Amino acid sequence: MSSPDYDTLGIDYSRTRRPDPRIAERINRALDDSLSVVNVGAGTGSYEPRDRRVLSVEPSAVMIRQRPAGTAPVIQAAAEDLPLRDGAVEAALAILTVHHWTDKGRGLAEMRRVARRRVVILAWDQEIWESFWLLRDYFPASDIDRRRALAIADITSVLGPSEIIPVPIPHDCVDGFHGAFWRRPEAYLDPRVRAGISTYATMPAAELESGLGRLAADLRSGEWKARHRELLDLDEIDLGYRLIVA
Ligand SMILES: C[S@@+](CC[C@H](N)C(=O)[O-])C[C@H]1O[C@@H](n2cnc3c(N)ncnc32)[C@H](O)[C@@H]1O
Repeated sequence: MSSPDYDTLGIDYSRTRRPDPRIAERINRALDDSLSVVNVGAGTGSYEPRDRRVLSVEPSAVMIRQRPAGTAPVIQAAAEDLPLRDGAVEAALAILTVHHWTDKGRGLAEMRRVARRRVVILAWDQEIWESFWLLRDYFPASDIDRRRALAIADITSVLGPSEIIPVPIPHDCVDGFHGAFWRRPEAYLDPRVRAGISTYATMPAAELESGLGRLAADLRSGEWKARHRELLDLDEIDLGYRLIVA
């Protein structure tokens, strides 16, 4: 079993995608006192707590190969068919992965099936996400994230009553996911940064070039800074990332 996306996309994942300690702390708190955790769509092992018994599930061999020594044992499998018995673990965790699943409803139901106590998911609220300056001003026509995002309400309709916890993104976020560079706009012009963000791998080339061209021009002319001066004083921002704890 292998995920074609991440067997191509993920070749250099561990270079730009490393856990941010402040986000890790929030995830850790959400897991509460769960001692055993399955990390679904675990990738290279970011955000896997070291002080709990963790089993990782990840479909892509390329991602599995990048897991550093000392990370949790991993099974090559997909969320839609978790190789665990009912209630096998106290908690099931899924970080920035649900939007990649082929059958999201089935994957979420599987998480619920294997977790005795709680399910913790990091995803985003698409409406808030679309107000981010990068999407609003430079990629307004892009519907890639819209097509693959699962509404928070659709997640909770499978998981049941849930706590929705905003995850503000620090201005110097260590993990290079899409929203991480909100106060460092030049980063989006760097192909090595974009290589760690799946949105850009699937964006039509013309749309990508046009958006990046306009961003580069606004950075050169000072227009970006003039328009977003207030961002430079913020240490963190809410871009719509949410922890869903069920
Ligand atoms: C953006 S990465 C996130 C990885 C990791 N959770 C992290 O926070 O760094 C998305 C991951 O989801 C995995 N994935 C894709 N389809 C999947 C599926 N159907 N079931 C489980 N994982 C899947 C990909 O292979 C990739 O490792």
